[in-house]
Amino acid sequence: MMIYMLDTANIKEIERLFDLYPIDGVTTNPTIIAQEQKPLRRLLVDIRRVVGDDAMLHVQPIGSKAEDIVAEAMEYRDLCKGNYYAKIPVTPQGIKAMQLLKQRGVKVTATAIFTQQQALIAAKAGADFVAPYVNRLDNISSDGIGVVADIMTFIKAYGMPTKVLAASFKNVEQVHRVCLLGAHAVTITPELFESLLYHPLTDRAVWDFYHDGVPYYDELEMIDTKNNKA
Ligand code: G3P
Repeated sequence: MMIYMLDTANIKEIERLFDLYPIDGVTTNPTIIAQEQKPLRRLLVDIRRVVGDDAMLHVQPIGSKAEDIVAEAMEYRDLCKGNYYAKIPVTPQGIKAMQLLKQRGVKVTATAIFTQQQALIAAKAGADFVAPYVNRLDNISSDGIGVVADIMTFIKAYGMPTKVLAASFKNVEQVHRVCLLGAHAVTITPELFESLLYHPLTDRAVWDFYHDGVPYYDELEMIDTKNNKA
């Protein structure tokens, strides 16, 4: 079943969307953290409080040497508790850090993936998720969906336990197409998540249902009619 994650650190949006939708986790990176203009550690504690211990929380260290990445990742694990993933870019030091973290029993998401071989090496290093950047690939006239398709093919061919967490989306069609490939997970902004669900004809149908039915429904005092009148 598709895993949906929110690619944001905005507490209000996380709280609002987790209340409404079947969302499995939150992914962050230093750029996403910077958008909130709050210290990382405070944000992580707040996100965990809102999503609960079962939801996945992916946090990216900022260090570049393997030992620094590992030390940071262990600190964030202790801080975040619950279902935590260290999100590590696929640099040479990052690949080393992934192996060290797996030896310590920490779950790993390999990120900033632009090529099939980056994903394969990260999977071999033990990454639980590999995160190809679909829209950033499309933006350089590459083929984001094609890269995801290739990664899915070799994960299946080699029988690897690694899951594909497709990332960097800008539109519904990109998300739809990675779902058709059977990608295991997507991470998307709150705005794009809600675009997946929105259709004006659904709103129109609900409006018609309400106005057709209202003279005949005699339990209206039980219903909050404010939201149905629009
Ligand atoms: O999770 C990766 C993602 O944050 C990259 O997305 O929109 O910055 O290309 P974007």
